[in-house]
Amino acid sequence: MEKNWWKGKVAYQIYPKSFNDSNGDGIGDLKGITQKLDYLKDLGIDIVWLSPMFKSPFIDQGYDIADYYAVDPIFGTMDDMDELIAEAKKRDISIVLDLVVNHCSDQHEWFQKALADPDGEYADYFYFVESEDGAPNNWRSYFGGSVWEPVPHTNKYYLHSFHKAQPDLNWQNPVVREKIFEMINWWLEKGIAGFRIDAIINIKKDLSWQSLPADHEDGLVAVTASLENAQPIEPFLQELKEKTFDRYNAFTVGEVFNETEDELVFFIGEDGVFSSIFDFKQAILGQQGDGWHDFVEPTAEEIKESIFKAHKRADHVGVLSTIIENHDEARGVSHFIPKADLNDVSKKALATIQILRKGLPFIYQGQEIGMENQYFDKVEQFDDISTLNEYHVVLEDGLTEEEALKAVSKYSRDNARTPMQWSDEDYLGFSDVKPWLISERPNRAINVASQLESQDSILNYYRALTAFYKDEEYGETIRFGAFQPLLADVENVIAYERVGDKRIIVITNFQPQEVVVNLEHPVKDVLLNNYKDIELEGQELSLKPYQAVVLSLE
Ligand code: GLC
Ligand code: CA
Repeated sequence: MEKNWWKGKVAYQIYPKSFNDSNGDGIGDLKGITQKLDYLKDLGIDIVWLSPMFKSPFIDQGYDIADYYAVDPIFGTMDDMDELIAEAKKRDISIVLDLVVNHCSDQHEWFQKALADPDGEYADYFYFVESEDGAPNNWRSYFGGSVWEPVPHTNKYYLHSFHKAQPDLNWQNPVVREKIFEMINWWLEKGIAGFRIDAIINIKKDLSWQSLPADHEDGLVAVTASLENAQPIEPFLQELKEKTFDRYNAFTVGEVFNETEDELVFFIGEDGVFSSIFDFKQAILGQQGDGWHDFVEPTAEEIKESIFKAHKRADHVGVLSTIIENHDEARGVSHFIPKADLNDVSKKALATIQILRKGLPFIYQGQEIGMENQYFDKVEQFDDISTLNEYHVVLEDGLTEEEALKAVSKYSRDNARTPMQWSDEDYLGFSDVKPWLISERPNRAINVASQLESQDSILNYYRALTAFYKDEEYGETIRFGAFQPLLADVENVIAYERVGDKRIIVITNFQPQEVVVNLEHPVKDVLLNNYKDIELEGQELSLKPYQAVVLSLE
C-alpha cells in the first residue's frame, strides 16, 4: 500500500450512538452503520472515523474506555465490528477508530486494581500523588472542578484532566506505553486503517505539579495552562509512531490545539508523528471570555482570516484536516451562519468553502443534510457532562437560569449528538423507539429521505462537491493544488484560488447583500454554483446573497 494512501480522500465522522439503530433499542449500533455504508459510498466517502465504540460506562459518552479490546454491548459484538470492517473494505472505505489513551475509564481493570492496591504496580499506571492537606494543586479539569480526586483510604490523589471517571494514564511508565502499543497493533492487525487521536497533547505533564495563578474566582486554573511547563511530548509520540502506526502505514489525525510552529512540523511535517491534525482554528472562533455565555458569533471576516492564516502556516508543512463541526461543537451551520441567514443557500456556501479549501475534508454526520442546532428548553434535556458543568459555571457567574439555558443551548455538544435525521418519521428514521437523546422539537424537515429526492438539496450539493473533489479533470488541482487567498480586501467575500495543472477559483459571498467583484483573469467555465444562474459580464461578477461559485480560469 502506498505510503500516503490517505491523501486526497474524503472522510466522515460517525458518532455511533446516534447514527443508525438496527435493533430498536433507541441507540445507534455497528450493524446500523454497516446498513448505511452504501449511503456513505454515494456521498463520496473514503474514510470513516468512528467515535468510540469500546466498552464503556459512558460517563463521557465512550471517551471513558473500560476495555480497549471489547465492543460495548450497546453497539453489538466484535463480529459486528469485523463485519463492518469487511463490508467497508468491499466498498473501498477505510475504518478509522478513536484512540483515547490520555485516560481510560475508572471502570478499567487497571484502575480497579490500582484502587485495590494503591501502593502496587497498577497505581503506577496512573498518577497517584501524595498530598497531606487537600488536592496537590489548583488545576481545573476540562469538565470543571479540581483535576484531583482522593484515592480512598490513602493520603493520595489521582489525576484526571477530564472527568473524575477518566483517570489519566501514566505515559512515563514504560509498561503502560507497551500495553497501549500492543492494543493499537491488535486493532491495526484486525484491518482498521488508523486512528483519530484523542486529547493527545494532554499526555505530557508538569511532574512538579506546581500550582499556577488562578484564572477564575474558583481559585483554579485550566489544566491546559500546566502544559506549558510539561515535559516534552516528542519522545512518547515518536515511540508511538515507530512501534505502531509506521508498521501498518496507518492514517492518523490528531486532536491537537494551539500547536507552535515547531510542533506543527513535529506533528505533520515530512516525518511527522501523525498524518494530519485538525484545523480547529475556525471551529473555536468566537470562543472567548469566561465561559459559554461570553462567546460571540464569528463574522465572515474572521472566518476568512482564520482559513487564510491556517493555510499560510501549514501548507508548506503538511496536510490539515478541515471541519466545520464535530461531536464536541455546536452544529457548524448554526455557528457560522447568522440565524436570520440560515437557509439552504448559505449552508451550501459554507460547505463549498470547507470542502474545496486545501486539506482533507471531514464531514460530520448530518452536516451533509444541513442539520442545525437542536431546540432544548430545559436543562434536564441535556446529557453531556460538559454542558451540565457549563450551565453551573454560568449560574455561578451570576446569570439567570434563563440566560444560562440560552448559553448552553447554543454551544452544547448535544446539538451535534442527537440522532441522524434519516426521515421525517417520529424517531427520524433513526430508530423505531424513542432515541437515547432527542430534542422535543426536532426540525424534521431536514432529513435524508426528502433530500435524496430533491435535486437541489444540500445532500446532493455535498455529493456534487465530493464528486468535484475527485473529478477527473479538476480533482487533482482541488486535492493537491496550492491554496491562494483571493479578493482578501472585499468585505464578507471568502474567496481563494486553487492552483495545480488547472486554475480554479472559489468565490463565496458570505453575507445577505449582493456584491460585485472584479476578477483579474477571464473565466473559462462555471464548474459549480449554489444558484441557478450566474451574473458574469466580462470579468465583472455580481454575486447574490450567500452565492458560492466555482470557476475555472483560462
Ligand atoms: C476529546 C473528545 C471529547 C472528550 C475528550 C475527553 O476532546 O473529542 O469528546 O470529551 O476528548 O476524552
Ligand atoms: Ca441499537
